Amino acid sequence: LRLSGPGSRGHARLRRSGAAAQPAAEEPGEDAEVSTRKKTFAEVQAERLDQAERTVLIKCPSRLNEKKLLQYLSSHGNVKSHFFFENRGISALIEFSEKSSIASLQDAVGIPSASEHHVVPFKSRLFTFTLKNPVSQHLEETPLHLSPQSHIPVKNLIEKLCLADSISSQMYILLDEYQLTEENIRLRFLACSLVRDFARAYFPDSTVKPFGSSVNTFGKLGSDVDMFLDFRDTGKHATKMKKGPFEMEYQMKRLPSERLATQRILSVIGDCLDNFGPGCANVQKILNARCPLVKFSHQPTGFQCDLSVSNSIAIRSSELLYIYGCLDSRVRALVFSIRCWARVHGLTNSAPGTWITNFSLTMMVMFFLQRRSPPIIPTLDQLKELAGEKDKHIIGGYDCSFVSDLRKIKPTKNTETLDVLLSEFFEYFGNFDFRKNSINLRKGKEVNKPESSPLYIWNPFEQDLNISKNVNQPQLEKFIAMARESAWILQKEDKTQQMINKEPWGLAALLIPFGKNNSSKMKNRMKGIGSETIRSLLDSLKLNNASSQQKAVGK
Ligand code: CTP
Ligand code: MG
Repeated sequence: LRLSGPGSRGHARLRRSGAAAQPAAEEPGEDAEVSTRKKTFAEVQAERLDQAERTVLIKCPSRLNEKKLLQYLSSHGNVKSHFFFENRGISALIEFSEKSSIASLQDAVGIPSASEHHVVPFKSRLFTFTLKNPVSQHLEETPLHLSPQSHIPVKNLIEKLCLADSISSQMYILLDEYQLTEENIRLRFLACSLVRDFARAYFPDSTVKPFGSSVNTFGKLGSDVDMFLDFRDTGKHATKMKKGPFEMEYQMKRLPSERLATQRILSVIGDCLDNFGPGCANVQKILNARCPLVKFSHQPTGFQCDLSVSNSIAIRSSELLYIYGCLDSRVRALVFSIRCWARVHGLTNSAPGTWITNFSLTMMVMFFLQRRSPPIIPTLDQLKELAGEKDKHIIGGYDCSFVSDLRKIKPTKNTETLDVLLSEFFEYFGNFDFRKNSINLRKGKEVNKPESSPLYIWNPFEQDLNISKNVNQPQLEKFIAMARESAWILQKEDKTQQMINKEPWGLAALLIPFGKNNSSKMKNRMKGIGSETIRSLLDSLKLNNASSQQKAVGK
């Protein structure tokens, strides 16, 4: 490293914070009101995107003097925050206070010598630093703190859970282990910002923003980054041009459909990432899907990314879930536990297929929380009533308005513990009349299914779309059977005895696959659950698909 410039300036260490909703306070002088008040979705997004634009990623030598690196970088401007992580070696994420520091750094950085490979001369915000004189620098190093970017394996999680004192605390432990960290959120926004640098080569007004679980407070370490290209000001121009004697508009390429335009744009940006993007690998264009996208792995940050073009409805769902996730601490704890439970039992899968998606499962948990008495979260119609003028959104003829200011939503009076809620969730969906009813978050009510899909969850914003259309009957039955089994395990359990026997108890017991040797237990469980279950079992026998039904009840 070439060292120059003034000494290292104050840089805040990032702390593990978790929820996207509550970024760590960085500066001691930060406004107390802002740090305690929960920010709106738009505020969080804007702040994070701005932060990502002032950020660079540096691949570092494995043995490194942190102080000297920071000293060196501070010659280009104040380093506001930084952290190190492991990803094919050690990398550092560096946030400058000013964007201009990046240009200054870029001016000072050399281009790799092209002896073996020819390099594409695209200057990104990804750098590699090496030591000029490795031997002399070894002596001064202190071990780097590496921020983890993945969660612990389920096996280790189960061990930790067994040491807790209640199911509620088990659920908070799981949440703490799995949720996105402050550092991981920064990396996600940086990945979007780096893709944006490419998009801007063609469309200078474009931005790339994350949506889905990276921003809806339900993201888990290791989950993909969903990002979309947004052309901010299309639409705005019409109003500006009304003044003066002329109507003026851009001449633009016209294509027969929006879909075709989306496909063309994604195709070109996909090629661009593939050909010129440092560390962009396995670029796959999936342009014929209902929602066309480009998949790629972004090696410098270690994320698998899905890039699509602005889908306003998906963004509204992300904000809706963000609001639900911020309203009550039990919401995220329950979702993370249910999602982990579903993954362990093969109810969800990272590959697309006929299984329930995490998104559908999250919506089912939200619906369950709306159904509690008193409800833990409001219905979408109630959130719509609280919407102000600025919250009005009509997309494609659908009213997607709902309140964005969290302070306007009254906290719930419900005081049920997570112990109760977990077990009631399994009870509720183990006995839900899926044949007749659908799940409607707008109304917060079970309503008659409009068509025969096995599982029908209304898209809250496009009222004629089922978000779980992909789920088939056997997968739904497997879900029901697992829910019943889990309800039974929780009811039957004798925590003290299990702790004495050193057996997993509570949530831990639910995170162990229910093996074949459990089939006798499964039969017992049918007796234990009560008349509701027997009624729905009898009902289910009336279904025509008798053989798969038998599997579902574990006979
Ligand atoms: N989405 C949707 N309708 C669907 C599927 C997805 O509106 N049928 C939107 C949702 O806003 C969702 C986002 O697309 O959050 C991303 O989808 P996906 O990656 O499948 O779900 P995530 O919520 O990101 O969950 P995961 O952590 O499993 O990626
Ligand atoms: Mg996702």
